[in-house]
Amino acid sequence: MPDAQAPDLASPDLASIVHDIAAEMRLRAERGTVADYIPALATVSPDRFGIAVIMADGTCHTAGDADEAFSIQSISKVFALTMALGAVGDALWQRVGREPSGSAFNSIVQLESEHGIPRNPFINAGAIVVSDILLGNHEPREAIGEMLRFVRALASDETIRIDETVAQGELQTGFRNIALANYMRAFGNVRHPVEKVLGLYFHQCAIAMSCRQLAAAGRYLMARGRHPESGRSVVSPRRARRINALMLTCGHYDGSGEFAFRTGLPGKSGVGGGILAIAPGVASIAVWSPGLNERGNSLLGTLALERLVEHTGWSVF
Ligand code: DON
Repeated sequence: MPDAQAPDLASPDLASIVHDIAAEMRLRAERGTVADYIPALATVSPDRFGIAVIMADGTCHTAGDADEAFSIQSISKVFALTMALGAVGDALWQRVGREPSGSAFNSIVQLESEHGIPRNPFINAGAIVVSDILLGNHEPREAIGEMLRFVRALASDETIRIDETVAQGELQTGFRNIALANYMRAFGNVRHPVEKVLGLYFHQCAIAMSCRQLAAAGRYLMARGRHPESGRSVVSPRRARRINALMLTCGHYDGSGEFAFRTGLPGKSGVGGGILAIAPGVASIAVWSPGLNERGNSLLGTLALERLVEHTGWSVF
């Protein structure tokens, strides 16, 4: 006999699911630890929680602090990778790998034995090489402007900004990233002056977006590479599939296996506490809770996505 309590996976009531998730997260005592190695992030309240779910038909469900902007940090690596693939195509893979690292997001160890080629574009080292590629013949200011225009176009929202305080904070305290960039420059895999490359990297990480804006920006990955509003192709369906595959396998660093196990969704986290998750063909989802787990991924954001999948059956498996 069907279980009366079982969720209706065929037509989930998204409005109440999203509302109930936010209500549960509001009451949770264990909220993780807010990142403090970037000064401006340390001041964000761990009480915050937001969620936005945008469906393939454009319907949007939000709850909690879904309209409060937060620092997207490493989630920007998805947009940077998309732009860099557009600029140089698959030649990018000669300079960046496609394997999970099993190491912390800011680790340097594998670079020594792997000739300065980072394991994937979502760890810091990989994203710094992607920034180097994006610089091309541009000055950092132009490349930053182009990135911001791209993200605004994806989200159909011209109000998205870069938080200059966050960017400057990282310029002053980002010693590990400075080390990574110099180390890869020694291998010839960073080709521009390190200050310029990191100028771009730190500013892309400092883009501030709300859950609603982030879920909107992720729609092309839900929609086989198409921007659903304009109908324009952002990337080919094959490239969208591949970016999703990399998010699933590498999007949460040394916590990628655990995230995939719990949610079954491609996802990309940031130390600001945001996660962009994609249910291909179905929904683009953004969650935000600033407290992180021991791997630097949002503690309640992950739990919220796990709950969402339990109630909707959106796991890709
Ligand atoms: O480079 C850094 O350390 C930060 N701007 C971004 C790191 C990050 O978001 C890792 N994510 N969980």
